[in-house]
Amino acid sequence: MTDTGLPKRTLGRTGLEVTRLGYGAMSLDNGRLTPVTPEQAEATLQAVLNAGINLIDTSPDYGDSEELIGRYIADRRGEYFLASKCGCPVDVPAGTTGHVYTRENIIAGVEQSLRRMKTDYLDIVQFHGSPSRATLEESGAIETVLELQRQGKVRFIGMSGVLPDLEDHIAMGVFDEFQIPYSALQRDHEAAIAAAKQAGAGTVIRGGAVRGAPAQDKAWAVRRLPEVAEERPRAIWERARLDDLLDGAPAIEFTLRFAFSNPDMDTTIVGTANPNHLQANLDALAKGPLPADVYAEALRRLDAAERE
Ligand SMILES: NC(=O)c1ccc[n+]([C@@H]2O[C@H](COP(=O)([O-])OP(=O)(O)OC[C@H]3O[C@@H](n4cnc5c(N)ncnc54)[C@H](OP(=O)(O)O)[C@@H]3O)[C@@H](O)[C@H]2O)c1
Repeated sequence: MTDTGLPKRTLGRTGLEVTRLGYGAMSLDNGRLTPVTPEQAEATLQAVLNAGINLIDTSPDYGDSEELIGRYIADRRGEYFLASKCGCPVDVPAGTTGHVYTRENIIAGVEQSLRRMKTDYLDIVQFHGSPSRATLEESGAIETVLELQRQGKVRFIGMSGVLPDLEDHIAMGVFDEFQIPYSALQRDHEAAIAAAKQAGAGTVIRGGAVRGAPAQDKAWAVRRLPEVAEERPRAIWERARLDDLLDGAPAIEFTLRFAFSNPDMDTTIVGTANPNHLQANLDALAKGPLPADVYAEALRRLDAAERE
């Protein structure tokens, strides 16, 4: 792995030493968040690795994301931990919508990810779509991923989970890692992240940059966030008067440093296809967690704003 001195954290019981800023490769899905050309994708992926970021999250569901990773950085495979998803539709009847957790579909999906990304193994395979415990049990999905683990095709088992199923997922005790949505403006999963950490799992948060919403060049004009009502992040920011706490820093930097301040969060995966944004996120990482008094005040104000 390229060690450029970025801060790292042990990702729970996986033992993987991950950089506290990871890369969310959903941003390589052309047009889903922003338009991205193959040249931009290549430049971004190379810049991510050159900066020393060592965790990349993707999914079969993210357009060409997996192919682009295979095309442009398969030759640097030793420099990053690779997390993808399973349950995404691959080997399913035409017209099937949503995620499918059958043995056939999970195996077909992982095999497809390995082919697309030109690798022999995924470091983490995460269930996409937060299936319920009952769905996982009915379809024998855990047995399937454990079989893939025994074959060496995946190293660790993860869950991209949301409440209410996340509580069951943690109690099941089979997941080495959880990917959970969280940001200063979307704190619904804060206690669940703490519970996952307490249970010994690795904790990866997504959405920590609120899709750039507080950034000057986005000015809250982000596409609709699926997990939250569109206007809620801005309303919370304003009610909590977070502008008062910035001390001259850009709002996006504050938001990321807020994520790094969460003691239960091992790493946050942020997507971008813009080199300036990548650098801004690395700068936020270099500044690290917020000063303790500022973090405490932000939490106090956010608690109050959420109660209003
Ligand atoms: N169900 C799931 O499992 C699931 C769902 C959603 C996401 N994910 C994963 O989590 C990753 C991150 O989640 P996310 O994309 O929802 O949220 P995010 O990381 O909060 O936001 C990414 C967006 O923020 C923008 N951005 C990043 N840094 C910025 C900066 N410094 N200034 C301005 N804008 C900035 C990016 O746009 P630019 O390209 O313009 O920088 C991108 O559109 C995804 O890439 C994906 O890997 C998983």
